[in-house]
Amino acid sequence: MKPFNKKYANIYFDKKTLYTRSLDKNKFFDERIVSFSGNSFREWEAKRSKLAAGLMKGLSQIGLRHGSVVLYLGASHGYTPSFVSDIVGKSGFVFAIDIAPEVTRDLVAICEQRKNMAPILCDCNHPEEYKDFVTKVDIVYQDISQKNQVQIFLKNCDMFLKKDGFGLLAIKSRSIDVTKSPKEIYARVREELEKHITIVDYRELDPYEKHHAMFVVKKK
Ligand SMILES: C[S@@+](CC[C@H](N)C(=O)[O-])C[C@H]1O[C@@H](n2cnc3c(N)ncnc32)[C@H](O)[C@@H]1O
Repeated sequence: MKPFNKKYANIYFDKKTLYTRSLDKNKFFDERIVSFSGNSFREWEAKRSKLAAGLMKGLSQIGLRHGSVVLYLGASHGYTPSFVSDIVGKSGFVFAIDIAPEVTRDLVAICEQRKNMAPILCDCNHPEEYKDFVTKVDIVYQDISQKNQVQIFLKNCDMFLKKDGFGLLAIKSRSIDVTKSPKEIYARVREELEKHITIVDYRELDPYEKHHAMFVVKKK
């Protein structure tokens, strides 16, 4: 087991597989746990997580570090959020938002075990609904399949992201326009983002996630 990249806190790598050092002894997703030097490491599958896929595709910076406060939009059952919770550690925090009650139930169960995560059942197209529960954050992470996903992301960055904070935006091209090629959609997204924010990295996520890309941005 060795650090995946010295720039990234608490992300490890062994035999082509990513791991995070687990905050606790819990297992939430039937993930493989590896014990090494007295620590437990949770296997983080790139086919289940766009952030893990982006790392495997060589993202050069993600901004996430020990102590980061994260606004996570589209937390679903909590798979990737649980790894983000490992990365930010006990001194960081993850506000985990999802619109769907069925998945938020699973998220609540994780947050009961993880004191550095809070579930919020809300529509992230309406950040004014949760502005009283969420602080300014170091990172906005978004993974939702909505036609107006770029506008939703920019709205949340505008409202919650600190200056010099990072945004991580997973794009599902088919949710934006199924008739256009993914490349056309990514170019359109780039153009829209560049009007408001600085793009610092970009990766297409194939073969881990077909028709998806990840943009990393920094607030000016
Ligand atoms: C692809 S899943 C996210 C998977 C998760 N990020 C992970 O890696 O473990 C997309 C999630 O976005 C949520 N979602 C879609 N539109 C939303 C909205 N407007 N506000 C909040 N959540 C939304 C869906 O309910 C779904 O759970």
